[in-house]
Amino acid sequence: MIELRGVVKTFKTKAGPIEALKDVNLKIEDGEIFGIIGLSGAGKSTLVRCVNLLERPDAGEILIDGEDLTGFGNKKLREIRRNIGMIFQSFNLLEQRNVFDNVKFPLEISGVKKAEAEKKVNDLIELVGLKGRERSYPSQLSGGQKQRVAIARALATDPKYLLCDEATSALDPTTTGSILELLKDINRKFGVTIVVITHEMRVVESICSRVAVLSDGEIAECGSVGEVFYNPESAIARELILPNLVKAINENPYEYKLRVTFNGAALKESIISLIAVRLGISVKVLYSDEKTVNGRTFGQILLAVPDGAAAEKIKALCEGENLTVKEV
Ligand SMILES: Nc1ncnc2c1ncn2[C@@H]1O[C@H](COP(=O)(O)OP(=O)(O)OP(=O)(O)O)[C@@H](O)[C@H]1O
Ligand SMILES: [Mg+2]
Repeated sequence: MIELRGVVKTFKTKAGPIEALKDVNLKIEDGEIFGIIGLSGAGKSTLVRCVNLLERPDAGEILIDGEDLTGFGNKKLREIRRNIGMIFQSFNLLEQRNVFDNVKFPLEISGVKKAEAEKKVNDLIELVGLKGRERSYPSQLSGGQKQRVAIARALATDPKYLLCDEATSALDPTTTGSILELLKDINRKFGVTIVVITHEMRVVESICSRVAVLSDGEIAECGSVGEVFYNPESAIARELILPNLVKAINENPYEYKLRVTFNGAALKESIISLIAVRLGISVKVLYSDEKTVNGRTFGQILLAVPDGAAAEKIKALCEGENLTVKEV
């Protein structure tokens, strides 16, 4: 398990201190794929770099399997970092080395015997789907292929954890999809715990089980992807996950607006006709969306209603149908 307790990180710059992490508390369980989202500058990269102590926090504890890394010296840290692989948006491959030698690099550093290292490299290259490209240099590969090399290299030391900082942000949607499938596969086959930092909501939707929303160096919200994506509580999570809903709320000057969230696609159509037939009230749909997360469909509609009395009646009707309804 990865656990962050009261993590604080302030950068001192000429223009003054920047509080990148204010008081971060987070638990990432073994075997899960955990997402971290947030606006640019929220502190995501700083957070993930604190997990393997590439960045040393000013206060707080970083516990990996119960051991606090902040007390460890460099030798012990190097040992622990072998257990924590990392991949980046920019791939960070060694340009002078071919695919095979890039993947072999961490094994050379840890002094693994040649025959054993070469077998391992071949297995990893096969795993990431690059068999036949062993002798290619990074400049001869596509972005997706480079990221496959980076993944193979990160897995060379059999890490228990894999940290991915915007690993698919430089890739087109199709290539992103194939890299996400590969990560999912690695999680399933080897039980590697994966932390995914991203600004792309669909990345979280497609592979993560839980997600934390980081805002200004603090965790604004954390929960299952189903919960957080279906019903974001914090303003920042709403802005990130449902930007069009926020826009619809702000741009429509109606006095009475109701946001009805539903769980299961069929309800959306029927609730509007129920309101019309049972209550004789006609509403205007200002916004509607639905998402399928882990096989369940969640969604919401934003309704403009004529007056306060109508709003009360609609609320009672929706509650009777077990729908969550809120005035916005
Ligand atoms: N080495 C550094 N020195 C000074 N300030 C830094 C340093 N690294 C990060 N920061 C600042 O800390 C804040 C958080 O940066 P961080 O890179 O963690 O954000 P991020 O959420 O990863 O953003 P992005 O989505 O753009 O990658 C920013 O204000 C950034 O300018
Ligand atoms: Mg970043």
